[in-house]
Amino acid sequence: MSDKKIIIAIDGKSSCGKSTIAKQLAKELSYVYVDSGAMYRAITLYFLRNNIDINDATQIKEALDEIELDFRLNEQSSQVEMFLNDENVEYLIREMIVAEKVSEVAALGAVRDFAVNQQQKMGQRKGVIMDGRDIGTVVFPHAELKLFLTADNAVRVERRFKELYQKNPNITIEEVAHNIEMRDYIDANREISPLRKAKDAIEINNTHLTHEEQLEKVLELANGLLK
Ligand code: DC
Repeated sequence: MSDKKIIIAIDGKSSCGKSTIAKQLAKELSYVYVDSGAMYRAITLYFLRNNIDINDATQIKEALDEIELDFRLNEQSSQVEMFLNDENVEYLIREMIVAEKVSEVAALGAVRDFAVNQQQKMGQRKGVIMDGRDIGTVVFPHAELKLFLTADNAVRVERRFKELYQKNPNITIEEVAHNIEMRDYIDANREISPLRKAKDAIEINNTHLTHEEQLEKVLELANGLLK
């Protein structure tokens, strides 16, 4: 394998398979995977717990000053997990209560500055795969490989439902569909860094692709750049 390291930026709407391909790629290339959405989710959890008023700039700033985020490797699962002020919140941040609020929190300028700054530091040494909404446009506009994933809405809802149902059998498909629709709308229409396909991103619609087919396609792209 070549010593050359690149940055791979993966963007797309909620539940279109970004983290699946990002984790597979990270394993294949021995790269670091950064789930930028987890950072916005952890900040949201902190805001919810501390009743932060998202219309009050002072409260937001003070809250951000108290937040320390870091990703730590779980040796057993080999997965990277999100820590908020030394607490493992990897599972809590996937709950519906966070999903319902995260797009509003992620639309705040101060929150984005806070998160983007840390994300850019994580990319300094390259060898990073980051997924999110603004990675190819704002966080790493010079990433060597940019992917923009898409999938049919019904498929996205079904994938998300299956994932959430394992943890919460009371969840309904309508709730999941509504949450995805709401987040798509807010993420794509917010003023600061809305979800956009970067001009130089390669779009992959994975509605009819298996995980293996998708990986093969993306590895070919990455390996072409690593020669
Ligand atoms: O990828 P996810 O569903 O875990 O992301 C949660 C929310 O965070 C998503 O609704 C929008 C926001 N987000 C963002 O605004 N920018 C990113 N780079 C990643 C996520």
